[in-house]
Amino acid sequence: MVNIAADYNLELLATGVVLLDADLQIRALNLSAENLLEVSASRAIGSQLEEFLDESNEWYPLLRQALADNYPMVRRAVAMTTRTGQERTVDITLSPIAAEVGTRSLLVELNVVDRLQAISRDESEWQAQATLKEIMKGVAHEVKNPLGGIRGAAQLLAGELADPAQQEYTDIIIAEVDRLRTLVDRMLGPKERLESELTNIHEVTEHVRHLIEAEAKGALAIARDYDPSLPDFYADAGQLTQAILNLVRNAWQACGDSGLITLRTRVLRQFTVGGNRHKLVCALQVVDNGPGVPEALLTRLFLPMVTGNAKGTGLGLSIAQRIANQHGGLIQVQSAPGDTCFTLLLPMEV
Ligand SMILES: Nc1ncnc2c1ncn2[C@@H]1O[C@H](COP(=O)(O)OP(=O)(O)OP(=O)(O)O)[C@@H](O)[C@H]1O
Ligand SMILES: [Mg+2]
Repeated sequence: MVNIAADYNLELLATGVVLLDADLQIRALNLSAENLLEVSASRAIGSQLEEFLDESNEWYPLLRQALADNYPMVRRAVAMTTRTGQERTVDITLSPIAAEVGTRSLLVELNVVDRLQAISRDESEWQAQATLKEIMKGVAHEVKNPLGGIRGAAQLLAGELADPAQQEYTDIIIAEVDRLRTLVDRMLGPKERLESELTNIHEVTEHVRHLIEAEAKGALAIARDYDPSLPDFYADAGQLTQAILNLVRNAWQACGDSGLITLRTRVLRQFTVGGNRHKLVCALQVVDNGPGVPEALLTRLFLPMVTGNAKGTGLGLSIAQRIANQHGGLIQVQSAPGDTCFTLLLPMEV
């Protein structure tokens, strides 16, 4: 048997590589492909590739076509779903290669692409975002300074007013100052320095769940699908609470009280996040059955001030993404009507 992984040292490649024989049986695969297909090499080798994929994979017939035509094929950004329901967007390259006399093999390369990595590759976009952040911080500081003075003066004025009816006006000033102060604090973003400690992610998600359920006064039910084998890892629990709260609040706004929100956790092994490979990664998903992210927003979603909500400030996701980045992780999104999933990936340095 050909051992492509060992013979050509493909084990460390981020791209999943699978070698299929003419019957589409797996002859060899590298570690990335094992992760993508969620199967061990010992289980996969000798089985049909089909066994590890959901029936929904529309590109599957292309494998036979590439073999029959003996012609390489590339398909970009196609959906790949495994038997366990894990969804990925991948670039697929199919290369028929000559095997023993008269037979052919098919080399399948699976390259995971997601929207966020696509954004991060775009240097100018990052540059624009960094500049915008600096401007926002400058403005936020300047706005914040006089707010304390305005609030104090309104309080003094309230004490001097003889007619209590007029206090309505000072109450408005104070309430608006407080609203502005909250907005400015959010514009300044999360703390730059993390206070990392050994954290149990399920304690964080349960805390968020209780907060939102209390806010919804029992009208909303949040389902849980936790992986109990997930170990504790070093993280800033306060910041993660903020990030997850932002995701769950968005989900709630999208699907309303009668919607369904699910919090799901999983462990990913040998997983690459933002170009770095990690032994263990925590995947936390916030899934909702709302109408989905508007198509026009999808590519700009994590930029500050991008909102589809008349009352929104468009800061929630940019803050959550920044917190994820500070942890060496990132947030990805997959959205369709009735099924929107934000995945927070956190490398676990246990
Ligand atoms: N689960 C979701 N389903 C559908 N759309 C979503 C979802 N999450 C976010 N969005 C869209 O992304 C936009 C940006 O979200 P973000 O949290 O950054 O800002 P916001 O919710 O509008 O305001 P803020 O969070 O600052 O109050 C939202 O306005 C909404 O249009
Ligand atoms: Mg929000």
